[in-house]
Amino acid sequence: MTGPRKLFVKSYGCQMNVYDSHRMADTLAPEGYVETATADDADLVILNTCHIREKAAEKVYSELGRLRVMKETAATQGRDVKIAVAGCVAQAEGDEIVRRAPTVDLVVGPQSYHRLPEMLNRAASGKVIETEFPADDKFNHLPPPSKAATRKRGVSAFITVQEGCDKFCTFCVVPYTRGSEISRPVDKIVAEAERLADAGVREITLIGQNVNAYHGDDVDGRPSTLGRLLHRLAEIPGVARLRYTTSHPRDMDTSLIAAHRDLPALMPQLHLPVQSGSDRMLEAMNRRHTRADYLRVAEQLRAARPDVAFSSDFIVGFPGESDEDFEDTMRLVAEVDFVAAYTFKYSPRAGTPAAEMEQVSEAVKDERLQRLQHDIERRQTAFLTRCQGGTFDVLFDRTARRPGQISGRSPYLQTVQVMAPISLIGEVVPVKITDVGRNTLFGALADPLANLPRQADHIQIETLGA
Ligand code: SAH
Ligand code: SF4
Ligand code: F3S
Repeated sequence: MTGPRKLFVKSYGCQMNVYDSHRMADTLAPEGYVETATADDADLVILNTCHIREKAAEKVYSELGRLRVMKETAATQGRDVKIAVAGCVAQAEGDEIVRRAPTVDLVVGPQSYHRLPEMLNRAASGKVIETEFPADDKFNHLPPPSKAATRKRGVSAFITVQEGCDKFCTFCVVPYTRGSEISRPVDKIVAEAERLADAGVREITLIGQNVNAYHGDDVDGRPSTLGRLLHRLAEIPGVARLRYTTSHPRDMDTSLIAAHRDLPALMPQLHLPVQSGSDRMLEAMNRRHTRADYLRVAEQLRAARPDVAFSSDFIVGFPGESDEDFEDTMRLVAEVDFVAAYTFKYSPRAGTPAAEMEQVSEAVKDERLQRLQHDIERRQTAFLTRCQGGTFDVLFDRTARRPGQISGRSPYLQTVQVMAPISLIGEVVPVKITDVGRNTLFGALADPLANLPRQADHIQIETLGA
């Protein structure tokens, strides 16, 4: 083989797939694979798929249709392109994928990514399908990214600390696609965070399907909590911001709530899915908490961190949802005043209990979705508007479209654009918000001179005076 081989990975679904896609690329880097930005010139295409709703799963097959044409064209030019399906559709459908889409060479479930190099060798002589839940821990076998790869991925990074779910909400496929809950040990996570910080990462988001159920072994051999883990990570030099997602209301324990009070690095924005505001629906969904439980948790978090803002996930049209149940959801949204949310129409998934229940009509689902979305958008805009005139720490992460402008994120994950030198990318800098766009805040450095890089001071001062 001459020259490096090109790899294109496309992620669907949640942030864990984004993280996993990086780890797959890291695993294939020592094999000579270099990432490319499009499928067209790739030697290996990996679709890292999502099974959560029907639409997400079906997207994969339309993409595979396009890739088949690409692969056949490449073959006429003497190029052998391999197509792999990874992620939750791979886990859920296994060899069914190869039957429906014979263009696929390789199917790999989320617990087998460390086996990719060996699987690719086998794929030279036929289809390879790996969807077992192996006993060995994949995290011990996945190589870490190079410093250069981390730099390229930017100043914010994910770390998977927990994977899988034992909760079995009646609508959800995740316990089947990701398996039962596991937590990584504290020392491994700390080592990964230190490595990221060393490569210039300033913001770390801890991820897991049930991230606050985290109970990995601490250095003393006893189980830790997410709160304790966050305390430990906040000590790492260079780590300016911490976040975690996605959490379950039931696992919001006192150590985690205390972390929101005690750790300035822990951002005051929390994604806490509630799904519904109706106790009847929460019960049918097997969420194992009530509306009152949720409100109590939100209140405790607000007491710990008064500037906290909540976002959430909602499902409308869950089997049996009445008008009254839906109104309960609308009332909960008003009570908590969510500033953002993902809203979904219930999608029946084969093998889950809710798929067998009496379904709500599509028309009703559409109507409820629209009402809920409209209400959330209104709150999102109101929150942006409230930010006007305020001063927020912004972590700059990229250049913006307009010359001289750079872009970053507020503590609440809003995009903030500012006229400022690109040397501030990777820095957390106070910004005064002067203007509000549809989805973006615009501002000016609160203290323009204090943050300029030293050698360039005089140049900038002249520019400012001009
Ligand atoms: N672990 C997280 C969420 C995982 S899935 C939690 O416990 O909240 C992300 C979101 O997809 C869920 O919060 C839910 O709102 C939505 N979702 C999951 N299954 C769904 C289904 N069958 N139909 C519609 N939305 C669904
Ligand atoms: Fe799915 Fe419920 Fe587990 Fe979240 S807690 S991943 S919604 S089963
Ligand atoms: Fe989708 Fe799997 Fe994530 S089903 S949401 S990619 S855990």
